[in-house]
Parts: sequence; structure tokens; C-alpha cells
Amino acid sequence: MNYQNLLVTHEDSVAVVTFNRPKVLNALSHDTVAELSAAIDELGADPNVRCIILTGAGEKAFVAGADINELRAIPSVAQGAGFAAWGQAILFKIENLSKPVIVAINGYALGGGCELAMACDIRIAADTARLGQPEINLGLIPGFGGTQRLVRLVGKGLAKWLILSGDMIPAQEAHRIGLVDMVVPAAELMDKARELARKIASKGPLAVAYAKSCINVGAETDLNTACAYEASQFGLACGTEDRVEGTTAFLEKRPARFQGK
Ligand code: CAA
Repeated sequence: MNYQNLLVTHEDSVAVVTFNRPKVLNALSHDTVAELSAAIDELGADPNVRCIILTGAGEKAFVAGADINELRAIPSVAQGAGFAAWGQAILFKIENLSKPVIVAINGYALGGGCELAMACDIRIAADTARLGQPEINLGLIPGFGGTQRLVRLVGKGLAKWLILSGDMIPAQEAHRIGLVDMVVPAAELMDKARELARKIASKGPLAVAYAKSCINVGAETDLNTACAYEASQFGLACGTEDRVEGTTAFLEKRPARFQGK
């Protein structure tokens, strides 16, 4: 598919999606979010893609939030609520995708950009990145799940600090509070993201999908229900040819060749 605001490239079984509006710090216009949704559908359905990396074009920003020109033009309460619900649904699509999505945060991840990063599975940040939810400075609040995912990642006090003050924090601070999972020198960001993506892509895709699903479902439910869910997914993994291949390969002291069956 042809995208105006995204670059989508394929590197073996890893797909890289780059937000490509660097003049406006890759701000999420309506069209950009719609393209992201289409790209996730396309890559999700492509059996050759086993892991996805999201990143931003240019050196300054991953994504500096929703497009403020469009936010200024929202005509009504209902349209505002509809816009937020629409964006949330697309972020849920990423979170619930059967394939892992790694975000390589190469600069500002603000507002909708930070919310998008939080919906991804693993967050790797350049040491030059800055993260925050500055919507309060615009007379707004986060609308793409930020009030909810941030509290789950960093706890209530820190979430309230960031959302109520609009403060931006550097990558190292984001790492310390659990908002990002790894910080690397900016020049090494994409290599690190690719290395991790390739490693995950080399595993059995069904087991990867079951594990991701267990962690997501379990994080939102009580331990007993979550463990029952894990048992059901473990059972599904036991039913795969990849389980036979993986265990046999170990015993035969050779690398496994997972087929996703
Ligand atoms: N929307 C539209 N345009 C944006 C933008 C955004 N979110 N962020 C930056 N831009 C534009 C600027 O207007 C500017 O355009 P011009 O060159 O035409 O003037 C260009 O990108 C470069 O930006 P700056 O000149 O501001 O760059 P800077 O280095 O001085 O500052 C910044 C960088 C601190 C990130 C600053 O651009 C900024 O504060 N941006 C807005 C961040 C923000 O508030 N994001 C939240 C949006 S609301 C949201 O996301 C709601 C939601 O939850 C869904």
C-alpha cells in the first residue's frame, strides 16, 4: 500500500514503520493515524512479518503528539469524544496485535506520541529522547489512553505529576520510573531495536503471540483468572508443530526451525 505520512520497509521478517512528517515533528494528523491503522492491518495480515518497529523520521522527534492544528478545529464535545475513541481503538489494535511491536523513540514522544509508545510492547529510547503528556498546556487532557496506560506503567503519583504539570522528562528519567524499558545512545537506537526485533522474529510466532496475550490479559485481571488464562494458552502452545520442533531441536542440539504451525 502507498502511504503519504509513513514509510514502511521490510527487512526479512521485521517491518519498520517510520512516521514521516519531520517538519511538524511527526505530529499525528488524522490521516497519519488512519495510515497507521491501515499499516498495522497490512503488517498484521502478512505472514512474512513477525515483528514490527515503530520510529520517527528526523533526529528531533518520534511523534510530538496529535496535530494541534486539527485539535484546535474540533467543533464539538461529541466530535472530541469520537476522535479520542477512534485513536484509542487504533492503539488497542497495536496492543492486541498477535505480533510484537517495538517502539524506537528517537526524540520527542509527547502527548499522542507518548500514548502510542505506551501501547507498544517494548519501548527503547535514544538517550536524547524526551517524553511527556503536555496536553494540559493546551487546555486538554490525554485522549489516546494516556491517563490509563501511564498510571499502569509508573503508578498514580508519577502519572498525576506528569499529566497535571505537563512536564517533559529525559529518557533516563523515563527509564528510572518504568516508562521506557531501555535507553541507548542515539546513534545505536535502530541497531538495538533491529537486534531485538530479529531475535523475537526468530522465535515461534504462535508462542510469541500466546505469551504477549497472556501478559496483556493478565495485567488487567486477578492472578487466578490470569493463571487460568495462561494455562489455556500453554495448552495451545503444546498443540503446535513448533512445540515439537523446538523441544526436538533442543534435544538434538541444533537450532529450531519454527514454522508458525
Ligand atoms: N502538532 C502540530 N504541529 C506541531 C506539533 C504538533 N503536536 N508539534 C510541533 N509542531 C510543529 C510546530 O508548530 C513547528 O511548526 P512551524 O515550523 O511551522 O512553526 C514545527 O513542528 C517544529 O516545532 P517547534 O518549532 O515548536 O520546535 P521546538 O524544537 O521549538 O519545540 C516541542 C519542540 C517542545 C516538541 C514543541 O514543538 C511542542 O511543544 N510541540 C507540541 C507538543 C504537544 O503539546 N503535544 C501534545 C499534543 S495534544 C495530544 O497529543 C492529544 C492526545 O492525547 C491525542
